[in-house]
Amino acid sequence: AVAMRPELDANGNVILDANGQPVLRTHKKGVQDFQFGRTLGEGSYSTVLLAKDRQTGHEYAIKVLDKRHIIKEKKVKYVNIEKDTLNRLNNHPGVVRLYYTFQDERSLYFVLDFASAGELLGVLKKMTTFDEECTRYYGAQVLDTIEYMHSRGVIHRDLKPENILLDSHMHTKITDFGTAKILDPPARSRANSNIVPVPDNMTAKGSDRTMSFVGTAEYVSPELLTDKNAGKPTDLWAFGCIIYQLLAGRPPFKAANEYLTFQKIISLEYTFPQGFPPVARDLVERLLVLEPSRRLTIDHVKNHEFFHGIKWGKGLWDQKPPKLR
Ligand code: ADE
Repeated sequence: AVAMRPELDANGNVILDANGQPVLRTHKKGVQDFQFGRTLGEGSYSTVLLAKDRQTGHEYAIKVLDKRHIIKEKKVKYVNIEKDTLNRLNNHPGVVRLYYTFQDERSLYFVLDFASAGELLGVLKKMTTFDEECTRYYGAQVLDTIEYMHSRGVIHRDLKPENILLDSHMHTKITDFGTAKILDPPARSRANSNIVPVPDNMTAKGSDRTMSFVGTAEYVSPELLTDKNAGKPTDLWAFGCIIYQLLAGRPPFKAANEYLTFQKIISLEYTFPQGFPPVARDLVERLLVLEPSRRLTIDHVKNHEFFHGIKWGKGLWDQKPPKLR
């Protein structure tokens, strides 16, 4: 097969030839083009491996998905959602980029950016908590990325510190779009075109194999639990949980089991630890609002005092990371 897609450089820019024409890739990449290394992560349907392009030496993270398992467990739709959303979000520094896909008899392969500093959760655990400066730095990048995703009609629906990776410059890269939703194009005829149904198997009372979604109960928004509806505000609820967690060292809603966690969420039962910065507390209180339409929007959050001094826009991604402390 011949894939006539433009060749991209390491920054994702189209490579041009001497005549200013895009260099088209005629060789379809395959397993044989990479040297596979250590395991970076494991999910229920996939394994992420470090891999090196034999031609360029460039390092990637390759997500390997077992086709038989995916078909048997009826997850084909979610694999397609992941590929479609990654292809749609191919032009932002805060999203893990999908470079190539290919398959062999047994597996599907997604060739992704390698985020060498790993998960934000791991960095947070090592530090126990972040100070306000670190929280502002990582929070601003995540918010800018949510804004980009929403502008491209994608709701992530499973934002959490495990899904926020860090590259060699300590810049955030959001990953794991298997539970994302592509919004319909805005329709004037509908009152709120941002509201989309959540598949039954992703709800709180979904029966058997709902692990990936219900397994991260702590960040689920109340509207997902009560109405099974997710919109843009759903990602902002999770963002509020993440800001809280970076400063407190633990998510706001945490209980002995999922059911009790859900109960806490729908009754907004959480407290701030001693010493939680008041300005951050105000931000979190305006994000962790049960009614989605009353939650802060992205523009409100950008203008909140907590993010005072952040230069929004492209320059955000040239910031040097603050010392972790
Ligand atoms: N773990 C899961 N995905 C990863 C990636 N893209 N880079 C580094 N570690 C990962």
